[in-house]
Amino acid sequence: MRVLSVASECAPLVKTGGLADVAGALPGALAGQGVQMRTLLPGYPAVLGALAGAAPVEAIDDLFGGPARLLAGKAAGLDLLVIDAPHLFGREGNPYLGPDGRDWPDNPERFAALSWVGAQVAARGAGGWRPQILHGHDWQAGFVTEYLRRMQAQDVRTVLTIHNIAFTGPADPGRLHALRLDPARFHSEGFEYWGGISALKAGLMGADRLTTVSPTYAAELMTPEFGMGLDGVMRHRRDALTGILNGIDEAAWNPATDAEIARYRDPAGKAANKAALRAEMGLPDAEGPLCVIVSRMTHQKGLDLVLQALPELLAGGGQLAVLGSGDPDLQAAYQAAARGPQVAVRIGYDEGFSHRLIAGGDAILVPSRFEPCGLTQLYGLRYGTVPLVALTGGLADTVINASPAALARGVATGIQFAPIDADTLRHALARLCALYKDQETWSRLQRNAMAQPVGWDQSAKAYAALYAELTGTE
Ligand code: ADP
Ligand code: GLC
Repeated sequence: MRVLSVASECAPLVKTGGLADVAGALPGALAGQGVQMRTLLPGYPAVLGALAGAAPVEAIDDLFGGPARLLAGKAAGLDLLVIDAPHLFGREGNPYLGPDGRDWPDNPERFAALSWVGAQVAARGAGGWRPQILHGHDWQAGFVTEYLRRMQAQDVRTVLTIHNIAFTGPADPGRLHALRLDPARFHSEGFEYWGGISALKAGLMGADRLTTVSPTYAAELMTPEFGMGLDGVMRHRRDALTGILNGIDEAAWNPATDAEIARYRDPAGKAANKAALRAEMGLPDAEGPLCVIVSRMTHQKGLDLVLQALPELLAGGGQLAVLGSGDPDLQAAYQAAARGPQVAVRIGYDEGFSHRLIAGGDAILVPSRFEPCGLTQLYGLRYGTVPLVALTGGLADTVINASPAALARGVATGIQFAPIDADTLRHALARLCALYKDQETWSRLQRNAMAQPVGWDQSAKAYAALYAELTGTE
């Protein structure tokens, strides 16, 4: 089975969030299922720089305003097709944002170009290789189905994975022509969305199958609360939609082999990491749990709720260590909180430090308002760092709440709270402090967490089955 994955970011080459982790992990996870996956990426400087032995397989005279080449090569063990188009992608730093922290104004064209080349490879092949399935990720791959229609190549099957419906890929209707879209399809059954153009809507309407990254988020997407105005579309496409949980890279996130930390196989081994983390962050010893957060700082992630509920954690003898970046107001609020002795904050993005935080913490907090899957709670499970999470999306599907019933059965792996507000989080933090005091229960939680499967085995099978069903090769 040949599958072309079309993604705007891919770990370890370029990453702003979990989408990159998933795009980077899928080819390896699926190889064992007989799927040959190649990944089409924009040629950002970081991607071109990593590409070894790249060969041009296609020249494109005019790719949305300039010439481009399609390169085939390998990087970080990934089999890549890369769009070398300096006028679109020759920009350092964050793939979506300019130096002023705002979206590049030509983002609709930049990712239309990604979709265009994806459709072209699917329609005609590249360097003698043609996929049976095009699997796109998020709005950046949304126009693929429109372009396949235009190229009259509708024999290739399409899958679109929704990692986050909050990003709809909007564009002004005045850009129809520039985006190479068919004006006749600017209607509610096409890519029209509240009077504008939406790349995501195009894909949601056009793809043969839709997936999202957890079963609970799949159900939530059909509700006005989580559908971000596309819940009607999701209900319309209900039969095409499945939720398949993300896994984590179990080689990169393994406390027994992690080069960033004092390695351990059982929860007792966390003590050395906790001491090292306190030393690194300038935190004193404390009686309560050391809670950690690794996160983008945005409204989605509910980090403002933690600041409101913080007094409860501190009253329980707890501490907080945070790594994140994003919204300037949230950054400033966290820096202000870090003036207190029991709170430490590092603003920035730091892969190595994220490992040390998760290894050293007693608990990891993920209080998201919505969370399609979430990966850091999965890292927490693997490292025996008890997740305290909001009851939503993938957080609902991956953590077993320490309810009285789950505790009695000895199966709990963490704490969940709902409704998602500061008051309920306060109670959850108090619950965390109480559980932490009961050393026997706490170490049971940790051991259960570490034993929970968080890899790709199940989900790789689910994707492979989906591909087989689509191509009629079951
Ligand atoms: P999202 O994709 O919504 O940001 P996920 O939990 O799916 O949420 O994925 C986030 C990924 O980015 C994880 O791999 C997490 O460890 C990583 N990450 C987020 N913020 C930082 C940071 N400041 N430093 C290092 N890694 C980070
Ligand atoms: C998105 C979601 C996150 C998910 C990730 C990977 O960024 O916000 O919940 O884990 O995609 O699918």
